[in-house]
Amino acid sequence: MSDSQTVSAAVAKLYNTYPFPPEPLLDEPPPGYNWRWNWLAAYNFCTGQKPQKQDIRILDAGCGTGVGTEYLVHLNPAASVVGIDLSTKALEVAKERCQRSGANRVEFHHLSLYDVEQLPGEFDFINCVGVLHHLSDPIRGIQALAKKLAPGGLMHIFVYGELGRWEIQLMQKAIALLQGDKRGDYRDGVQVGRQIFAALPDNNRIVKRERERWSLENQRDENFADMYVHPQEIDYNIETLFELIDASGLDFVGFSNPGFWQLDRLLGKAPELMERAQKLGDCPRGSGKANRASYRLIELLDPEVTHYEFFLSCPPLPKADWSADDAMLAAIPERNPCIDGFPSQCVFNYDYQIVNLSPLELEFLQKCDGQSTVGGILAGLQLGLDAVRVLLKQQLILLTPS
Ligand SMILES: C[S@@+](CC[C@H](N)C(=O)[O-])C[C@H]1O[C@@H](n2cnc3c(N)ncnc32)[C@H](O)[C@@H]1O
Repeated sequence: MSDSQTVSAAVAKLYNTYPFPPEPLLDEPPPGYNWRWNWLAAYNFCTGQKPQKQDIRILDAGCGTGVGTEYLVHLNPAASVVGIDLSTKALEVAKERCQRSGANRVEFHHLSLYDVEQLPGEFDFINCVGVLHHLSDPIRGIQALAKKLAPGGLMHIFVYGELGRWEIQLMQKAIALLQGDKRGDYRDGVQVGRQIFAALPDNNRIVKRERERWSLENQRDENFADMYVHPQEIDYNIETLFELIDASGLDFVGFSNPGFWQLDRLLGKAPELMERAQKLGDCPRGSGKANRASYRLIELLDPEVTHYEFFLSCPPLPKADWSADDAMLAAIPERNPCIDGFPSQCVFNYDYQIVNLSPLELEFLQKCDGQSTVGGILAGLQLGLDAVRVLLKQQLILLTPS
């Protein structure tokens, strides 16, 4: 067996023992949304406009028990979805999950990321969450996926960060040492891990981190095993992350948690430092050398980074420019499908942040019927174009160019 086959077999065994994630199965669509799995919201985030087509093909690479896959189906009613995974047990749960909630535009395949070329055609949207860092060769994995991404398509990736997972790594190594010959017996690993936590003093650093950050989810053995007893994990920092991204041959579009990557949240009180940092590059978008240095500075100063989540694109990806008033007035606005609590002056935006709307902003949003232009709606309202630009910046609306 090659190294990658040995790793894949060990990873499949882990997830056959503990299919992940262990979320319960429902007889209805899952509650709420994650905008990263909504093609309209994700595309708008990446390009500043509504995508031209919605009957897209989506790949959920390393779909596990199908929690994300199920959302991908329900949140994208015109899309067809394919889920692949190494673990047969996880796939069984994924199929049942989707069947029970009526997510029927989906097919599943027992297939490694490395062999994704066996699937016919290309995909417009590839979701790969929590998977690449479990491959023996993540670069080979991301390159295989990149070949399946259609031009103008988007890939959403989530991989672990080393700085915020330091205590986890220590615990993983400690469990492995104590397991000795029993390494690879994942139930034994969970038992050993739980015994260690029970024995360590309360003020121990690893215990404190577990309590503060992870213990709620780790009540379930599936989560505990995924975190502490994994046979294969590569954690990234900004430098190694961009080595992976560069090797993919795709373009970095931006982090999908841009709020974290704002330096002013850390150094905003020190204008002199902000000025020095400005020379490094402007965050949160962009992937040039200067931006990478900014990102690195942020993670060095806030080493909470447990993961990186970001979008890549296969060029060309058209980006909208709404600076000209004429273009804006002629565009057709729609409400972002990821808004909760509408119609109300107080809504949750795509990222579940509360937004308070003025009465006129609310009226504008109510008049977005998918046919009227911005100019047409504004003609009957005491609202200026700048206010519409604010709605656009907040991603409460998506625009289609005329
Ligand atoms: C942590 S789970 C993530 C599941 C899902 N993406 C989610 O976020 O809910 C990792 C999944 O990746 C799968 N996996 C790991 N290596 C893989 C590979 N080479 N090819 C396909 N799937 C793989 C595992 O079997 C497991 O189900």
